Amino acid sequence: MSRVNLELKAVDRNPEATLARCVALGATDGGDLHQTDIYFMARRGRLKLRVEQGALGGELIAYGRPDALDAAESSYVLAPVAAPDELAEALDAALGTVVVVSKRRHLFLWEGVRIHLDEVDGLGSFVEFEAVLPQAGDLSTARDKLARLRAELEISEDALVAVGYSDLLIEGPQGLLRAAWAAMENAYAPYSEFKVGAAVRGRSGAIYAGANVENVAYPQGQCAEASALGALVAAGESAITAVAVVAERLEVCTPCGGCRQRLAEFGSVDTPVYLGRPDSGPPTTTTIGELLPGAFDREALG
Ligand code: THU
Repeated sequence: MSRVNLELKAVDRNPEATLARCVALGATDGGDLHQTDIYFMARRGRLKLRVEQGALGGELIAYGRPDALDAAESSYVLAPVAAPDELAEALDAALGTVVVVSKRRHLFLWEGVRIHLDEVDGLGSFVEFEAVLPQAGDLSTARDKLARLRAELEISEDALVAVGYSDLLIEGPQGLLRAAWAAMENAYAPYSEFKVGAAVRGRSGAIYAGANVENVAYPQGQCAEASALGALVAAGESAITAVAVVAERLEVCTPCGGCRQRLAEFGSVDTPVYLGRPDSGPPTTTTIGELLPGAFDREALG
C-alpha cells in the first residue's frame, strides 16, 4: 500500500530550546530511537532499509520526495523485514550501497504529527515534522498543523533543509573539500604566498566556495572563509550545514579566530568542519562548537 506523508526538515541551532518547546506544546514523548538507514542504488526514487536498535527486524522503504524547502508530500511503500542483516547483504550485492545514515531520534507526537529531534552522525542536529495522512487530517489540515508547529518551534526560513540526510552525507566532505581546493587555486595571495580555500554547504544543499583575497594595504585582506560566506549570502542563503577549509602549504589549516566567529554566525555548535585535502583519505573533522567554545552568540544581545 502506498502512503502519503507531509514533511518538513530544518537545521536545529538550539536543540535544548526545541526540546523544551515540544514539552511546552504538550506533545507526547515517544522516547529515544537509534536508527540506521542503509541506502541502496535504486532505479527509481530512493530505497532504504531501516534498522532500529533493540527492535526485532527492520523496514524496507521505497519512496520518492521532491526536494522542497516548504512542507513537501512524499509517497512511500513500507515492507516489514524479518532478517534485516541478510537483506542488507543481498541488496548490497545486487544493487550496491550508497550511504549509511545513523541517527539518534527523540520522537514526539502532536495531533497526529510526528516530531523528530534528530542528532545525525556527521551532520549535526535537525528537527523534522512528519504528518502521516490521513491520521493528521486531510492535506490542508496537515499543512495548517505543520505551519502551526513551525511557528511554535520558531523555525526560521533560513533553517529549512530541502534534501534528505542521505543527500547531505553523500555529498559529504569530499565534495566540499574539492570545491574549497578549486577556489584556493584562484586565491589572490601575492604577499603571504599562503593560498587558502573554503567551502560551505548552504541548507539547500548547494556549495559556496571562496579564496583569500589579499591587499597591498595588508589589513584590507580577506580570509577564504569570509569570501565563501559572502557567496552564500549573495545567493540568498543564511544557514550552513558543513564547512571545509584547505591550504596549499598546510595539510590541516584551522580557521583563524575571526573566521571561527564568522562561521558560528551561520552554523550551529554541531556543524562539521572538514580540514584536509580532497581525495587523500578522511579529513580531520571538528565542529564549529569545538573550534569556538564559549562563543559570543545572539542570545547575549537579549
Ligand atoms: N587565511 C585565511 O584565508 N583563512 C584563515 O582562516 C587563516 C588565514 C589567509 C589570510 C591571509 O591571506 C593568509 O591566509 C595568511 O595569513
